[in-house]
Amino acid sequence: MIRKGRDTLYSLWRHLLFRYDPERVHEWTVRGLESLQSIPLFLSLARRFYAVENPGLDVSLWGLSFPNPVGLAAGFDKNATIYPALSALGFGYIEVGTITPLPQPGNRRPRLFRLTQDEAIINRMGFNNRGARQAMEHFSRLPRPRLPIGVNLGKNRNTPNEQAFQDYRCSLRALYRHGDYFVINISSPNTKGLRELHRPEALKPLLEDILGEREVLREETGEIRPLLLKISPDLTDEALEKAVDVSLNVGMDGFIATNTTLSRDGIASSPFRDETGGLSGRPLAKRSTEIIRRIHQQTGGRVPIIGVGGIFSGEDAYEKIRAGASLVQVYTGMIYRGPSIARKINQELLQLLKRDGLSHIQEAVGRDA
Ligand SMILES: Cc1cc2nc3c(=O)[nH]c(=O)nc-3n(C[C@H](O)[C@H](O)[C@H](O)COP(=O)(O)O)c2cc1C
Repeated sequence: MIRKGRDTLYSLWRHLLFRYDPERVHEWTVRGLESLQSIPLFLSLARRFYAVENPGLDVSLWGLSFPNPVGLAAGFDKNATIYPALSALGFGYIEVGTITPLPQPGNRRPRLFRLTQDEAIINRMGFNNRGARQAMEHFSRLPRPRLPIGVNLGKNRNTPNEQAFQDYRCSLRALYRHGDYFVINISSPNTKGLRELHRPEALKPLLEDILGEREVLREETGEIRPLLLKISPDLTDEALEKAVDVSLNVGMDGFIATNTTLSRDGIASSPFRDETGGLSGRPLAKRSTEIIRRIHQQTGGRVPIIGVGGIFSGEDAYEKIRAGASLVQVYTGMIYRGPSIARKINQELLQLLKRDGLSHIQEAVGRDA
């Protein structure tokens, strides 16, 4: 009853919000959460309201404990300013970023579009962020939640691909102390040439270099942080296989599948259909699940995958888990379903486990691969 009321409340709220420019709404949300998270009562009430605590949902990976498998994807908290508030919304972990070494403004506005009929978004933000130094300051000032925090790293727009390794190394060094896992993002379609880094000749030296820096940081700090590669959904099967192969050979710890797509397949006649940028949400779901399945098959399930793309419900998340994802993430689903999305997905996952006679979410990983 309360849950239904909460969902109806958000659909009314959404009706109002969707009248405004999407990026302005995002900015208001960030400002609102920045203010709210300074009120301890807000954090504890939100936690009580949104958390789903059940031992069947906790996941242990890379020496980290995730209270549930549903995370918030990169792009929502680009500057690591609101992760304490987001951590109180029932997510199992939060990924901040993409962060580049130097601050950059991103592309010209408008650069974010809602395709409401399709429950999708097109964005061409272009890694707008305040840079690694500022992110470091935010991390030092804000409280550390009891959930894993991932940090997603990118290269600056003006850095040539041949020097991209310096950008990833620089940000990894600056933020190493603050993140629980790190993501090498080479799959955003909005930084010219970035996706070229999937090619084995470019990928191998890039990852070797970053892993080398991680080794130095491990010696300096005594801590080893997992490094994951975020993959594009637009790779051919052959290119995907090669990129995964290279990543495994150099010793990457996991994959995030996938980023947004350049494809416009399966979307209705939205006025924004032909806007340049990456498409996320419902139309991406099938392709990202397919990529997860392929990676799981290729790795024999030995390397964890975070599944992301078009997750709106427990059923959607479960499909990705059964295809081989150990954890999942949402972004567009949060825009369309509101702040109770993680809670809802977790409750539905528990029902699905029960239906299938499973006692723990990890038992479902890769069952359909
Ligand atoms: C507005 C917007 C901004 C995004 N920014 C980033 C980003 O900075 N870095 C990144 O790796 N992915 C970014 N993403 C991609 C998401 O993390 C996710 O991979 C993708 O949207 C698919 O998930 P979804 O269908 O649940 O949205 C962004 C997505 C959206 C919609």
